[in-house]
Amino acid sequence: MKTLIPTVSLGCLLFAGAASANSETFELGKELHDNNCVRCHDSSMYTREESRIDDIDSLRTMVRGCQNNFDLAWFDDEVNAVAHYLNQKYYHFD
Ligand code: HEC
Repeated sequence: MKTLIPTVSLGCLLFAGAASANSETFELGKELHDNNCVRCHDSSMYTREESRIDDIDSLRTMVRGCQNNFDLAWFDDEVNAVAHYLNQKYYHFD
């Protein structure tokens, strides 16, 4: 019984950690996006009918391609954060 309690609370901690990491990723992605990505197109680009994006991988590839267009030189983490943000907000892939 004594060993059970620490195990349970560690489990809760890990779970809470994962949840807040996710919303931090969302906030980071939103900030990077709003500061950098609305020069050529607004968010209607992401809901257009002829969207070329059909899964999370092509979304990530598109984010990387678009940020290359003006040499932002984002790290993978930043590309992933923006892809995560766009997915949560517009695309809703699994
Ligand atoms: C230099 C201009 C330019 C900038 C800046 C730009 N984009 Fe784009 N983006 C485009 C163009 C043009 C297209 C349409 C490409 C096509 O239809 O093949 C596009 C399309 C997209 C799409 C695909 C939309 C869809 O569903 O078909 C995504 C996602 C995207 N951009 C994300 C971003 C992100 C994230 C940034 C910021 C890093 C960004 N863009 C900055 C020009 C730009």
